[in-house]
Amino acid sequence: MRMSVIGCGYLGAVHAAAMASLGHDVVGIDVDETRIAMLSRGEAPFFEPRLGELLAEGIASGRLRFRTEMADAAGADVHFLAVGTPQLPGGHAADLRFVDAAVDALLPHLRAGDIVAGKSTVPVGTAAALARRIEPAGATLVWNPEFLREGWAVHDTISPDRIVVGVPDGEEGARAADLLRDAYRPAVEAETPFLVTDLATAELVKGAANAFLATKISFINAMAEIADAAGADVALLADALGHDTRIGRRYLGSGIGFGGGCLPKDIRAFAARAEELGRGEAVGFLREVDAINLRRRDRAVQLVIDALDGQLFGRRIAVLGAAFKPFSDDIRDSPALDVAVRLRGLGADVVVTDPAAIDNAAAAHPQLGFARDRDEALRDADAVVIVTEWDEYRRELSPAHAGALVRRRIVVDGRNCLDAAAWRAQGWNYRGMGRR
Ligand code: UDX
Repeated sequence: MRMSVIGCGYLGAVHAAAMASLGHDVVGIDVDETRIAMLSRGEAPFFEPRLGELLAEGIASGRLRFRTEMADAAGADVHFLAVGTPQLPGGHAADLRFVDAAVDALLPHLRAGDIVAGKSTVPVGTAAALARRIEPAGATLVWNPEFLREGWAVHDTISPDRIVVGVPDGEEGARAADLLRDAYRPAVEAETPFLVTDLATAELVKGAANAFLATKISFINAMAEIADAAGADVALLADALGHDTRIGRRYLGSGIGFGGGCLPKDIRAFAARAEELGRGEAVGFLREVDAINLRRRDRAVQLVIDALDGQLFGRRIAVLGAAFKPFSDDIRDSPALDVAVRLRGLGADVVVTDPAAIDNAAAAHPQLGFARDRDEALRDADAVVIVTEWDEYRRELSPAHAGALVRRRIVVDGRNCLDAAAWRAQGWNYRGMGRR
């Protein structure tokens, strides 16, 4: 099938490469010339396992190319819209300017019968409005949200746990659903659930999924606050809750909370849209979810302050992690970097290390100190703070090895990812988040 993917950011670049790997003929379009040049050389513009491999294979096979001109999208059977929908400056709603610009630019190149498949995360109602705009060209709009996780993006695109396609009523919608079934044939043949819905439901699935995931994380972090006050251990609590199959252990990871380019902005945009629909009270809890999440960062900073008896000025603090989560170089709304910046603001001499995100972090926060080498960051530290649970810190750093490097054996485990007993046994003052 001939496809175009409009917007080659996180979502689009992965989608284009993954679709080419399934045998489709794909052109990726983006206005960013540097990005298009990198992608055309088969280089991933961000850290994402397997993406480089897929890009190189796709380009070598001739099935994958990247262009800056929208005219190159002409002739595709399906046009995937994969542009960003950031948070509006000064507000909570989604900024749809890139979606609108992409559709404006695409309109002159659409043929009757083309499918435009929206993948971006948008407020419910956007698809219906876009459908009206492309209708005069005789094209059909469908909504096909993505659920990919950074670090697993290639896997989640090729082997998703479900495929959702929102289509218009009638024949036109049925034909569009069949076309999307063909686009994702290997996954469909592997019996991946393929759900055909109306446009609004498909848009809502994405917002609702992210709202649920964020709520689950904030739920366990709220329990961490209670555990702290009661002298209980939230990690053991999460294990015990997780054995109930109705609850499940995944996404009950407590610590400094969620960040990244999706969950924080998506739950805010979801609540803002609910307000516009006159149903703000239905998702009022999302404000709490957000507030609990942001309190976690304060709590981590407070643990460091307490451990150093309030004396942060001039103290050397090793911050292990900068990315918003492991297997990513993404620092958008990273709780890890936020903690580092706050400690620096309190006068500490902060040295941040991360296996993948140092360049991005240094560009955004030049006031912080950085060390590429983990051990160099640890050397002479008065306190160690773990804020991204990379294996390099969680599994591969032994408390004895770290103890030989630091000045004082104080560790704040912002991800509750260390074996507290093992660290204490080596003389460390271990402080977790909601752990005894
Ligand atoms: C998320 C959704 O998982 C994905 O389905 C959606 O399409 C986009 O948003 P992503 O942002 O890549 O994906 O990251 P995810 O792995 O979900 O983690 C989000 C944040 O939550 C990270 O900061 C992570 O550290 C945090 N998190 C996750 C926790 O604090 N605890 C957990 O148990 C899980």
